Amino acid sequence: MCGIVGYTGKNQAAPILLDGLSKLEYRGYDSAGMAVFDGKTLRSEKTPGRLNALVEMTHDGKLLPGTLGIGHTRWATHGKPTRANAHPHFNAAGTVAVVHNGIIENYLDIRQRMEKKGFAFKSDTDTETLAVMLDYYYTGDPVETIIKVLHRVTGSYALGIIFADHPGELYAARKDSPLIVGKGKDGNYIASDVPAILKYTRDVYYIENEEIAKITEKDIVFFNIDAEEIKPELHTVEWDVNAADKGGYEFYMMKEMSEQPKVLRNTCEPRMKKGSIAFEELSKDADIIKKASKIHIVACGSAYHAGMTGKYVIEGMARIPVEVELASEFRYRDPVYTDDEIVIAVSQSGETADTLAAVKEAKAHGVPVWAIVNATGSSMTREADRTLYTFAGPEISVATTKAYSAQIAVFYMLAILFAKERGQLDANEEKSYVEDLKRLPEQVELLLGNKERVQKFANRYISARDVYYIGRGLDYAIALEASLKLKEISYVHAEAYAAGELKHGTISLIEKNTLVTAIVTQEALYDKTISNIVEVKSRGAFVMAVTNVGHSEIEENADFVVYIPTTNKYFANSLAIIPLQLFAYYVSAGKGYDVDHPRNLAKSVTVE
Ligand code: G6P
Repeated sequence: MCGIVGYTGKNQAAPILLDGLSKLEYRGYDSAGMAVFDGKTLRSEKTPGRLNALVEMTHDGKLLPGTLGIGHTRWATHGKPTRANAHPHFNAAGTVAVVHNGIIENYLDIRQRMEKKGFAFKSDTDTETLAVMLDYYYTGDPVETIIKVLHRVTGSYALGIIFADHPGELYAARKDSPLIVGKGKDGNYIASDVPAILKYTRDVYYIENEEIAKITEKDIVFFNIDAEEIKPELHTVEWDVNAADKGGYEFYMMKEMSEQPKVLRNTCEPRMKKGSIAFEELSKDADIIKKASKIHIVACGSAYHAGMTGKYVIEGMARIPVEVELASEFRYRDPVYTDDEIVIAVSQSGETADTLAAVKEAKAHGVPVWAIVNATGSSMTREADRTLYTFAGPEISVATTKAYSAQIAVFYMLAILFAKERGQLDANEEKSYVEDLKRLPEQVELLLGNKERVQKFANRYISARDVYYIGRGLDYAIALEASLKLKEISYVHAEAYAAGELKHGTISLIEKNTLVTAIVTQEALYDKTISNIVEVKSRGAFVMAVTNVGHSEIEENADFVVYIPTTNKYFANSLAIIPLQLFAYYVSAGKGYDVDHPRNLAKSVTVE
């Protein structure tokens, strides 16, 4: 969702803003704009559509000279993606420019109030109310004015602001929407996310809720909402500078799928010691682990699907009841907690509004909250009691692949930990799981190495209208994620079904050549799912199957088979998902779609 970049320093701002915004394209957007100040004139350009249009309009930024600027990619919430609604927004005199990510919930009230006072509005956005209020309450002191305005708004915001009578000064503020401040050599930066400024600096401050930053070329000063100066900690981002580049791949998604072996190693190795699993992050939680009566997993999208895998693995290995719930439901459901429960939130970005709200709801009830998060320093890492990082590095493609793989690996390790601590697993069994975990990266590599075969198959099915994914148990968890991948990026109607449920309705949709993908990795359920394959086959379906090596007899019923290497029953998801990610990718790329930026979707969903 909306991306923000800001710069003040020695260099021309516009090229830095355009470059930074391009690194935030993954967030999803439908218009782009920027405002640059040269000390005399505050100039702006904005346009609906892709960032390239802004690059062309401004001749790579040359038409907007100046060393102070703010840029924005907008994912429309209030008002259509038009030029008028694109950010930055201004006051009537054009002396205050604002970019905003989030939602001002009371914007209609503010707008009416301001209209009564004679202010006119040019857009349908909630953001413009901020520009107008910054004008109305302006005292000459930007920090004081910003605070006055923030006291009058409800909702969420990350803001970049320029005042024309304060040359060289960039202002920022945040509440419940992500924003970082980067400390550079030739100037300082603000951004929604690290990749936007990684090329220029690794030193960042994470602005906390209701904090304001005043940024100049040399200094960064932070204030709380009472205008008192505060001193946040400077963090160094460890990410590789090239991590946010495509590295020669046509799309980030392919690059990120290819990184999965490395990501699995990075995520698991720090937690594997001498054949045993240990989470340093949970070293003070032995009691919680031993006593846990139930685990709630809350998440959205693919992270929710990772949670589904987590449920089967934790329940299977550790015998603790696990409930997986969509964060958007959980947060409003008034969940019932009993003693000794734990909430585990899962999020790549650590910024998803619903998951963040679910975390807060659980904390308000005194329930211990652990968060499995990828983005360092994100809001969720600060809200949760414990953060278990997935070391996937920056993920740019909207459709997640490597972060998902890392999330399920964390669940495997948590399951082992719970099982061990609760006497469900002896040292030999643990050792054997750790060995399997160590083998996963090369097994994933093997599957990735056969990608051309999946590509050929995907090409045959490029015009499929409907695809069904079926599986039982853990295979059902994979079916959910595989079908989401396909629909997200290929715009093909895809549905995941628990294989045993097919007969209760969905089978009526199967006709000649309907593609059904059957995931059959769970030996105990093998015959059951084969029966379901036979049922759809006899109705004319074309069947793609993903199963364990050694089951070549499946070819009697399946038309195209991908075999996955041998692992234990719990870890098969890490392997089965690979060909299914590849399939979704190749269908999308084959159709000529922009794989990394599927229509209407955003990588980081920071509004409800
Ligand atoms: C969006 C993304 C998905 C992601 C979901 C949850 O829908 O497109 O890929 O799974 O949000 O995001 P999170 O950052 O919380 O994992």
